[in-house]
Amino acid sequence: MKTRAAVMWEAGKPWDVVELDLDAPKAGEVLIKFAASGLCHSDDHARTGDLPGNYPLVGGHEGAGIVEQVGDGVFDIAPGDHVVCSFLPTCGKCRWCSTGHQNLCDLGQFLMVGCLPDGTFRFHSGEQDLGAMCMLGTFSERAVVSRNSVVKIDADIPLEKAALVGCGVPTGWGSVVYSAEVRPGDSVVIFGIGGIGINAVQGAKHAGARHIIAVDPIDFKREKALEFGATHAVATGAEAIELAAQLTEGVGADAAIVTVGVVQPQVVEEAFFATRKLGTTVVVGLGPMTENTIQLNGDMLTLYQKTVKGSLFGASNPMHDIKNILSLYKAGQYKLDELVTKTYSLDDINAGYEDMAAGVNLRGVIVYD
Ligand SMILES: NC(=O)c1ccc[n+]([C@@H]2O[C@H](COP(=O)([O-])OP(=O)(O)OC[C@H]3O[C@@H](n4cnc5c(N)ncnc54)[C@H](O)[C@@H]3O)[C@@H](O)[C@H]2O)c1
Ligand SMILES: [Zn+2]
Ligand SMILES: [Zn+2]
Repeated sequence: MKTRAAVMWEAGKPWDVVELDLDAPKAGEVLIKFAASGLCHSDDHARTGDLPGNYPLVGGHEGAGIVEQVGDGVFDIAPGDHVVCSFLPTCGKCRWCSTGHQNLCDLGQFLMVGCLPDGTFRFHSGEQDLGAMCMLGTFSERAVVSRNSVVKIDADIPLEKAALVGCGVPTGWGSVVYSAEVRPGDSVVIFGIGGIGINAVQGAKHAGARHIIAVDPIDFKREKALEFGATHAVATGAEAIELAAQLTEGVGADAAIVTVGVVQPQVVEEAFFATRKLGTTVVVGLGPMTENTIQLNGDMLTLYQKTVKGSLFGASNPMHDIKNILSLYKAGQYKLDELVTKTYSLDDINAGYEDMAAGVNLRGVIVYD
């Protein structure tokens, strides 16, 4: 069948919306008609080449839609089911899946190759195979994905909102709740209030943090952070370091979370300085893969026994956490509707990413017909 999709043919070029051929689902796979896809910064990293992809690649990894067809051996998902795609597949059997770290599933090795778990591709342009970002390709009207990449959800949840729970929501929320292990009464600093950071703010609120300091140079982001539960919002790292010390009688924040769009050494150092002895800095954001984007004073790390750790998909277990967060949303305890600032057609994807760069959206979302 045919599908329209936004493709990155090579690093550095704008998104190109073209018609592609799409194979039918093979064994263990499902065909999805997408309702919506969030515009996450990670696709922009793949497009710029910060994160080198196996080009050409169909973009998009934060999607939700309706299953149209299933391949052989898929018994627990049926046509008509509403699903959210997890940007990390979970095989359920590898060392990581079977010890409660589904986000680190060994199938993640194919994320930037963009093939299905059997090593082959479902998107084609003439004779040419195209990969799919995170083995999904949610910037396409339809995609064939592994059953391991989908989570069935209740049909009454709006798909346009549910899409965000495929990446940004658990990534931000889990970075605070799971990776930083924030406890009631803690002080947390969050650097960068985009689609990920705003969910770190929600995570800090759920974890019972007393002080939630949001840092972003853009006024609109700071206003939104306060609406979502931040107790303070400042424009610079220097202000955040001073405020964290002031609010904690000079001790410093229990945790700092780095969710800026492009990670550079300075912001990680600011986060590290903002934390207390035994404090934790969690790095969620990505930067140019070929550069050392973390440069810290080792003596301070050692003598203050600080921790610096990475966090992938919020250290969550997508098969549980996607549904768990949606159940919080249904109970009125999670803000999803308010995360979507603006919707776009697939053809307007480049405008959507220009708006991300300008910082005018918490999250932009492509909505399909
Ligand atoms: N680890 C993971 O699992 C994972 C998952 C998804 C996204 N990411 C990464 O997380 C990062 C954030 O993604 P997003 O979609 O929220 O991006 P975004 O562009 O929507 O938001 C980034 C925000 O950071 C702010 N910012 C930039 N420099 C700053 C600085 N020095 N101090 C404070 N704020 C600053 C920007 O103004 C913007 O509001 C990206 O690098 C993305 O690739 C990681
Ligand atoms: Zn993402
Ligand atoms: Zn696995």
